[in-house]
Amino acid sequence: MAVDQLRLEAAVGAVVDPDLDLALGLAHMVGGVRVRRHRAEVVLALPVAAWPGIDDLRRRIAEAATVVPGVEEVAVEVAVMDDAARSALRTRLRRSMAGGPDPEAAAGPAHGGHEDHGDHGDHGHGQAAPVPAFLRADSKTRVVGVSSGKGGVGKSSVTVNLAVALARAGKRVGILDADVYGFSVPKMLGVDHDPVILGDLVVPASAHGVRVVSMGFFVPDDQPVIWRGPMLHKAIEQFLGDAYWGDPDVLLVDMPPGTGDVTLSLAQVMTRAEMLVVTTPQPAAQRVAQRSAFAARKLKLSVRGVVENMSWFTGDDGTHYELFGRGGGQSLAEELGVPLLGQVPLVPALREGGDVGVPVALTDPGGEAAAAFDALAQTLLSLGPARVYRRELSLQ
Ligand SMILES: Nc1ncnc2c1ncn2[C@@H]1O[C@H](COP(=O)(O)OP(=O)(O)O)[C@@H](O)[C@H]1O
Ligand SMILES: [Mg+2]
Repeated sequence: MAVDQLRLEAAVGAVVDPDLDLALGLAHMVGGVRVRRHRAEVVLALPVAAWPGIDDLRRRIAEAATVVPGVEEVAVEVAVMDDAARSALRTRLRRSMAGGPDPEAAAGPAHGGHEDHGDHGDHGHGQAAPVPAFLRADSKTRVVGVSSGKGGVGKSSVTVNLAVALARAGKRVGILDADVYGFSVPKMLGVDHDPVILGDLVVPASAHGVRVVSMGFFVPDDQPVIWRGPMLHKAIEQFLGDAYWGDPDVLLVDMPPGTGDVTLSLAQVMTRAEMLVVTTPQPAAQRVAQRSAFAARKLKLSVRGVVENMSWFTGDDGTHYELFGRGGGQSLAEELGVPLLGQVPLVPALREGGDVGVPVALTDPGGEAAAAFDALAQTLLSLGPARVYRRELSLQ
C-alpha cells in the first residue's frame, strides 16, 4: 500500500513537544517529511541544538508515523532552526501569550511579510512584561497557589503529586515553583534539564506531563540567595509574563511558607489566584496554617479549601495509626469556612518518589497515596473555578 504523504505529515505534525506543550506542526518543528516506498523520512527542526528530550521526540515521531498505513520504517533526522525560524517561533509564541492568534489556530506556514524576524522583545527593556492572556479574567486557566503556615508540612509534595494526578486526568498542568526558601519541585518531579531560553522567552521544562518553571533553575545550587522584595517581585513577574505557559488548565504555584513578600507579589500579579492551604493533623500546625490562610484572604485571594497531609500511616494489617494526631485539617477548614478537600496518608513511597524524582502516582499508581491525590484532583476540578475573584472579605 502506498503511503499517503498528507496523512503522514498530519500524523507527524500532531506529535506534541512536551516542553512547549504544542504540536510539532504548530511549532514549525517539522523540517520536512518524505516518503520513499515504505520508509518515512522526517526532519525534526529543533529551536536550539540543546533542545531537551530529543530521543523522546524521535520515539514519539516514530510511533505516530508507524500508525500511518504503509509505513514500515521511520528515519528521523535532527536539524536546528536558523536564526530567522527561531525568531519567528519566538514571535508566534509571544503573540499567542498576549492573546493574539493562537499558534494552535494559526497553523501552517508562516504568513509572508507579517513575521517579526527581529530578535528584540515585544516589550522594551526594563519594562514589565505584559500580563499574559492566561492570567486574564476570561481565561480558562485556573491558577492555584499551594500554601502552608510553615515548611516541612508537605506543601511541595502535595503540589507535585496533585499536578501529576491532574495530568493523569488529562489536564494540561504547569507548576511555578515560587518557594524561594527551597526550590524542591524540579528534583521531586525528576526534571533533568534546565528550561530553554528563546530570546526573551523561557520555555518551561517538563517531566511526567507537567511543565515547570522554578526560581531554582536560575540560581547556583550551592549559593543561598537573599531575595529582596523588589527582586522577587520582578522574578515572579518574569516567570509568569516571560515564560511560555501556553494554555494550561491549571497552573499550580508552590508558595513559600508564611506570609511574606512573595505572597504579596503573587497576589498582585495573579489577581485570579485561588489558594489551597496544606496542614498536618496536629493543632499547632493548624494554627500557623490559619495565619497564612487569613493573610491570603487579606490579599483577597480566594481560599478554596484545606488539604491535610500525613493524616495517618496504614499498618500491614490495615490499621490507621494517627501519628500526628487527628482532626487538624477538619477544624482548620471549619474555622476558615472552606471544605477539607482531601487527606493524604503518610506513605514512605511518597518520600522515596520525591527523592528519586518519580512521583508516587507513577511508582505506585494503585497505592494509597496515588488514590488520595487522584481524589484530591477530582475534588479540585469538581469545585470549579472561584466564581468571584477578589471578593472583599471581612476578617475581623
Ligand atoms: N504524605 C507523606 N508521606 C511521606 N512523606 C512525606 C509526605 N508528605 C511529605 N513527605 C516528606 O516530608 C518532607 C517534607 O515535605 P515537602 O513536600 O518538602 O514539604 P514542604 O514543601 O512543606 O517544606 C519530604 O521529605 C517529603 O518527601
Ligand atoms: Mg517545599
